[in-house]
Amino acid sequence: MKKKLLSMTLATAMMASVLAGCGSSSASTETAASTGETAAETTEAATETSAAAGTKVGVSMPTKDLQRWNQDGSNMQSELEAAGYEVDLQYASNDVQTQVSQIENMISGGAQVLVIAAIEGSSLGEALDMAKAADIPVIAYDRLLMNSDAVSYYATFDNYMVGTKQGEYIVDALDLDNADGPFNMEITAGDPGDNNAGYFYNGAMDVLNPYIEEGKLVVVSGQTSFDEVATPTWATETAQSRAENILSSNYADGTQLDVWLCSNDSTALGVENALAANYNGEYPIITGQDCDIENVKNMIAGKQSMSIFKDTRTLASQVVKMVGQILNGETVDVNDTETYDNGTGVIPSYLCEPVFADVNNYKELLIDSGYYAESDLQ
Ligand code: BGC
Repeated sequence: MKKKLLSMTLATAMMASVLAGCGSSSASTETAASTGETAAETTEAATETSAAAGTKVGVSMPTKDLQRWNQDGSNMQSELEAAGYEVDLQYASNDVQTQVSQIENMISGGAQVLVIAAIEGSSLGEALDMAKAADIPVIAYDRLLMNSDAVSYYATFDNYMVGTKQGEYIVDALDLDNADGPFNMEITAGDPGDNNAGYFYNGAMDVLNPYIEEGKLVVVSGQTSFDEVATPTWATETAQSRAENILSSNYADGTQLDVWLCSNDSTALGVENALAANYNGEYPIITGQDCDIENVKNMIAGKQSMSIFKDTRTLASQVVKMVGQILNGETVDVNDTETYDNGTGVIPSYLCEPVFADVNNYKELLIDSGYYAESDLQ
């Protein structure tokens, strides 16, 4: 009986942290309260802060070009500093060699943990080997680092769920289970060098493929495979020029375009730019991800239907928590030990939950939560 009660308490505590999405401070308070460990937790927090003093953490971000990585970088920096760590934060201008040398400098500069969001998941081998040789734990941040056994943990949003939410949005918006269709669709996916991109694409296509097979959704360009629809480096310009070609070859005769599945906001922006100059029909449904400012403005203006909100503050908090647990030799908080195999084995992961945003809920999600100020979106 006692055993059963304990396992129920543990299950409740685990649920509380899963429901809270991303190991926020409220989740740990809830967990502590439900297991009656408040005093122990307090001592733990104190140990964490003292262990943090003077400890250097290297944070390597891919680029300053996309809004989200600036937010991720500055959230990580402020949270780590608030916890007492010294932070070496570098952005690599989307240049792999720059990222390799920045990481090597972090290691020789005394970093004791590395947090890395890779430009290209498989290309940091040399730097990761150096980290391993120096016994420095590595957390892959948002994007998995591939083919290296130097990776200790992975923290990200549930990437497959991002895709399924985009697909489900399209199913609902077109009422695909009841409407006869057919509806015309095009697809734009992400960077083949980013392990996340396949998860986004597969999540969405697993939802949409049955309707394509049934003939309710028709991809007029015929471009459906990941390789055909991918966008190297997630570049807006590349997505735009591909969209311009598709529009001029397939829709210039007045063919109606009903929906454009875009894996994220930078590619959605390219599609939106292409539509503005090359399409006169009824405006299609367009998906996105990140809630970038330009895209939220487009959402308000009716030029993008939805985006996926991945609150980078919660991912940063989770990673800061994991850094502390690693340095204190504690059990590291993960909630997925099956999904993300980087080629050397499954990397224990923490997946935060993404949520869907549109014109009806963006105020609550983005402004009331303090993510953006109202003036950012004007
Ligand atoms: C991230 C997305 C982002 C994309 C482009 C992906 O790895 O998960 O949030 O839109 O990179 O930066």
